[in-house]
Amino acid sequence: MSDVLTIAMPKGRIFEEAAELLRQAGFQLPPEFDDSRKLIIDVLEENFRFILAKPMDVPTYVEHGVADLGIAGKDVMLEEERDVYELLDLKISACYLAVAGLPNTKINDVAPKIATKYPQIAAAYFREQGEQVEIIKLNGSIELAPMIGLADRIVDIVSTGRTLKENGLVEYETIVGITSRLIVNPVSYRMKDERISEMVGRLTEVIAGEEIRS
Ligand code: PRP
Repeated sequence: MSDVLTIAMPKGRIFEEAAELLRQAGFQLPPEFDDSRKLIIDVLEENFRFILAKPMDVPTYVEHGVADLGIAGKDVMLEEERDVYELLDLKISACYLAVAGLPNTKINDVAPKIATKYPQIAAAYFREQGEQVEIIKLNGSIELAPMIGLADRIVDIVSTGRTLKENGLVEYETIVGITSRLIVNPVSYRMKDERISEMVGRLTEVIAGEEIRS
């Protein structure tokens, strides 16, 4: 088990697509991998240890070196700014960050309130626009904020657009496109370069194949 690769996987919506991608790349992941409640899963056949983390925490595990690799959304990378390398755009879980709010409403002139799970990204975005805003950090159900008068606008992920639509909200601006990335701890990248390069090679082939098909 000396050169085991520890991989931090995000629980939730990215997990399934990430597991599928690893399987397509020929890695043997057991069926129980998908609906286990375990937080650490050893896959002895591949000499992998998976740790299942909250998506926002994946770069933290990788930065501290308790995971060699991780799969993290670009949104998380932009928000967290951790000392890790981004190795590969996995081109999965595509979505984007947008400014949204109630339709036909103007943003408050004086320090409009922006609710978001992404305070750093939102603050940087409005700073670049030359707008002074007050950021209100929430942890989920962000769409509630303008509906009940907590905020003028939200900055949040849009995937299918259903959540906005079903709650009567509209998009005002797109901030940045998001996909999931393979990230690595800089020391692991040096020490385990052979195994990591092999994994990157196999994933790159699958991603290129997907692109040709689509
Ligand atoms: C995300 C995001 C939006 C929704 C967008 O929330 O914050 O609310 O998904 O997806 P859609 O465009 O396909 O509707 P998530 O489900 O991760 O839960 P959260 O509200 O707890 O953040």
